[in-house]
Amino acid sequence: MSTSKISLCLLLCLPFFTCINSDELQILLNLKTSLKDSKSSIFSSWVSNNHFCNFTGITCNSDSSFVQEIELSNRNLKGTLPFDSICQLQALHKLSLGFNSLYGEISKDLNNCVKLQYLDLGNNVFSGSFPEISSLNELQHLYLNLSGFSGVFPWMSLGNMTNLVSLSVGDNPFDPTPFPDQVVKLNKLNWLYLTNCSIDGQIPVEIGNLTELINLELSDNNISGEIPSEIGNLVKLWRLELYNNQLSGKLPVGLRNLTNLANFDASTNFLEGDLSEVRFLTNLVTLQLFKNQFSGEVPAELGKFKKLVNLSLYTNKLTGALPQELGSWAEFDFIDVSENLLTGPIPPDMCKRGTMRDLLMLQNKFTGEIPATYANCLTLQRFRVSNNSLKGTVPAGIWGLPEVNIIDIALNQIEGPITKDIENAKALNLLFAEYNRLSGELPEEISKATSLVVIKLNNNQLTGKIPASIY
Ligand SMILES: *[C@@H]1O[C@H](CO)[C@@H](O)[C@H](O)[C@H]1NC(C)=O
Ligand SMILES: *[C@@H]1O[C@H](CO)[C@@H](O)[C@H](O)[C@H]1NC(C)=O
Ligand SMILES: *[C@@H]1O[C@H](CO)[C@@H](O)[C@H](O)[C@H]1NC(C)=O
Ligand SMILES: *[C@@H]1O[C@H](CO)[C@@H](O)[C@H](O)[C@H]1NC(C)=O
Ligand SMILES: *[C@@H]1O[C@H](CO)[C@@H](O)[C@H](O)[C@H]1NC(C)=O
Ligand SMILES: *[C@@H]1O[C@H](CO)[C@@H](O)[C@H](O)[C@H]1NC(C)=O
Ligand SMILES: *[C@@H]1O[C@H](CO)[C@@H](O)[C@H](O)[C@H]1NC(C)=O
Ligand SMILES: *[C@@H]1O[C@H](CO)[C@@H](O)[C@H](O)[C@H]1NC(C)=O
Ligand SMILES: *[C@@H]1O[C@H](CO)[C@@H](O)[C@H](O)[C@H]1NC(C)=O
Repeated sequence: MSTSKISLCLLLCLPFFTCINSDELQILLNLKTSLKDSKSSIFSSWVSNNHFCNFTGITCNSDSSFVQEIELSNRNLKGTLPFDSICQLQALHKLSLGFNSLYGEISKDLNNCVKLQYLDLGNNVFSGSFPEISSLNELQHLYLNLSGFSGVFPWMSLGNMTNLVSLSVGDNPFDPTPFPDQVVKLNKLNWLYLTNCSIDGQIPVEIGNLTELINLELSDNNISGEIPSEIGNLVKLWRLELYNNQLSGKLPVGLRNLTNLANFDASTNFLEGDLSEVRFLTNLVTLQLFKNQFSGEVPAELGKFKKLVNLSLYTNKLTGALPQELGSWAEFDFIDVSENLLTGPIPPDMCKRGTMRDLLMLQNKFTGEIPATYANCLTLQRFRVSNNSLKGTVPAGIWGLPEVNIIDIALNQIEGPITKDIENAKALNLLFAEYNRLSGELPEEISKATSLVVIKLNNNQLTGKIPASIY
């Protein structure tokens, strides 16, 4: 017990039976003062004629003598944190202050909060580097993401935090560091968020020891080398995010064992080889592998994935036809397979559940006609199939889809008229249909597509006048 604390006790409790309560009260009132800039009304209950265990956001032990939890996340708080005083709360095991506007540096006094199991300082605007915290050995949850810390992060401090379950320190401008060794020893982790915090070098093979992981996010770093095949040991993984790094090589054999994976994103890397490992990931909801060097065919199995709603594979070197049942099972939302070498017809049933918003298949070698099914896709916002080898006519309803804001069929061999259905296209901004074989006259009704900003129709066989109404 520090001398200041003893004297405070003596001062406050001589006439009373116990001094512990006044001490806890005093610490909380001090915290309230530090956060006085706040416009928040939660502190109206923080007054000395209320028992401190009844203060908003405070939870005490069973006989109401000690503060155990401070839960003040997302309360519009501004101010600095007096850890010299906060950490005198001897029984404090949860401190939750995320999603506020707390600022200033965190002092080493945080180390005196030795009972802490849960620390959330994430989503604030602190400054300076985060202190070494190796005495907080009971921590189970540590959230420091997007909180403004910089400099060297004290990875060493994690060495003895063997009970850590959640570790979230991403979205901070730390000094560049290799993947920290300490992290792969924390074998109870189920949540690891190290996105956008200047990690370089390779993913260590020991990542495969973190078999409790459900969420692994390493995106927006400078990680190079291959994805280690040991990642296939993480069979509980539900989300794996690796986008925007420098990863190379193939998807490792073993990825196939991640059958609980629902969200996988390895976009914007230098990955190559085929997608055959993905064939077994039957629980995928979203799959994003755009901007890589993948080749080979889109596996037929993707056409059977019952939960898939988002598929983004653009800018690769994929060949062959898309599975025709693709997107026909769940409430499919989004496909972007643009800028590949894909052939064959457009899968017809991606809007079967009436939920699809984006169909983006530009710059491939798709053939056949635009499936008539999309004429009923009332949710469709973007329909872009330009620069393919599509033939036939545009199913009339497509011209008049109520939500569509871009229709892009340019650079195909599409024929027939633009029909008067276009009067229903109230959201249509952009109509690109140049370099086709469209014929007939532009319907007068185009004037009722009142959102139209750009129309490109050159290099077709259209006749007649441009209706005066569209000026
Ligand atoms: C908290 O407030 C309630 C209702 O006002 C009261 O019954 C209870 O005794 C108070 N708790 C403490 C620890 O004083
Ligand atoms: C970021 O921190 C907040 C708490 O501040 C937490 O609720 C959230 O899950 C964290 N995000 C990630 C991706 O870990
Ligand atoms: C971890 O605990 C051991 C044994 O108590 C101690 O020697 C070591 O210094 C601790 N490591 C850290 C990083 O605090
Ligand atoms: C990356 O982190 C910085 C803070 O260091 C943040 O401002 C930025 O928005 C983050 N980037 C992304 C893409 O979230
Ligand atoms: C961690 O992984 C490495 C390499 O995959 C392995 O040799 C080692 O035995 C593992 N350690 C533990 C503690 O499981
Ligand atoms: C990323 O890592 C490479 C080496 O792999 C290095 O040359 C480059 O400077 C790093 N970029 C950043 C932004 O740190
Ligand atoms: C996938 O899991 C099975 C069953 O646990 C195992 O036998 C196999 O070796 C694993 N495959 C790879 C490539 O890791
Ligand atoms: C699918 O992608 C769209 C557009 O990017 C996004 O709004 C939506 O949240 C995604 N759905 C899921 C389940 O991630
Ligand atoms: C059309 O696609 C080809 C590749 O298939 C590409 O070379 C060409 O630049 C594209 N044309 C336009 C106008 O985008």
